[in-house]
Amino acid sequence: KNISIIGVPMHLGQPRPGTDLGPDAIRHAGVVDKLKRLQHDVEDLGNIKIDSVAGEEQREDNLLNLQSIIDASTILAEKADDVVAADRFPLLFGGDHSMAIGSLAGISKHYENLGVIWYDAHGDLNDSATSPSGNIHGMPLAASLGIGHQKLTNVHGEQPKVKPENLVIIGARDLDPGEKELIKERGIKVYSMREVDEFGMEQVIQETIAYLKDRTDGIHLSLDLDGLDPMETPGVGTPVEGGPSYRETRHALELLHDADVLTSAEFVEVNPLLDDKNKTGIVAANLISALFGETLK
Ligand code: ARG
Ligand code: MN
Ligand code: MN
Ligand code: MN
Repeated sequence: KNISIIGVPMHLGQPRPGTDLGPDAIRHAGVVDKLKRLQHDVEDLGNIKIDSVAGEEQREDNLLNLQSIIDASTILAEKADDVVAADRFPLLFGGDHSMAIGSLAGISKHYENLGVIWYDAHGDLNDSATSPSGNIHGMPLAASLGIGHQKLTNVHGEQPKVKPENLVIIGARDLDPGEKELIKERGIKVYSMREVDEFGMEQVIQETIAYLKDRTDGIHLSLDLDGLDPMETPGVGTPVEGGPSYRETRHALELLHDADVLTSAEFVEVNPLLDDKNKTGIVAANLISALFGETLK
């Protein structure tokens, strides 16, 4: 594959410092060399610049850092758009999950029906009215569906970036009341931990692939490292116990590799300041390697 890495040192979507160091933590785990050894053509475009408007914390309508996030998302959307236009695979390193507003805005330009696999403990389906925190990293999926503040939904084009029927959420175990309502109302497919436990990761992924394959013309993986159990990935800002293991998650990515259905991917919420010896960055790097064909056989 022809892979272009974009580092997104986004931290404005939540209040804890450290996710700005996430992209480099993943790089330090040796991921670029690993991908090259797997015979991929890899270019690392470096990190985009994230600026805070006037340095002060802004809070507009229960939205922390709204304008700075719009600015960064717009830059990211253009970058991601360019990578797809060049026929290369966008591989994004984060950075808090608010970055998905920009990545999905840019990537979705090239697809009629972009599929999204959202691997996360959370739904990230809040808007300013339903959000318990005002943190925009809890809102990117809603924004991509066209729900929420107009400035967030209109990044890189006014149309919704993703249709609810082209979305699958896996690993959810901390959904806010407003998110649960939205899931019901829009008929969004969710494999919560209840279903992962019941069916097993193998079946969940095979069903996800079968569900998305025919209805979409490209599939983006958005993997939040807090989707995994915090025993495996302690370096995240909003850990939720009771998640899938590294082994289960790795297997999920091996199956996605074998099916060869993904057209873009992002690995987000790595926070080295909360981590234990870069454990979370290393897990991210290993998962990326599995997604691009590394086998342990
Ligand atoms: N649901 C909570 C909120 O909206 C937590 C969101 C966590 N999101 C994340 N990308 N880690 O504030
Ligand atoms: Mn999460
Ligand atoms: Mn919650
Ligand atoms: Mn998330």
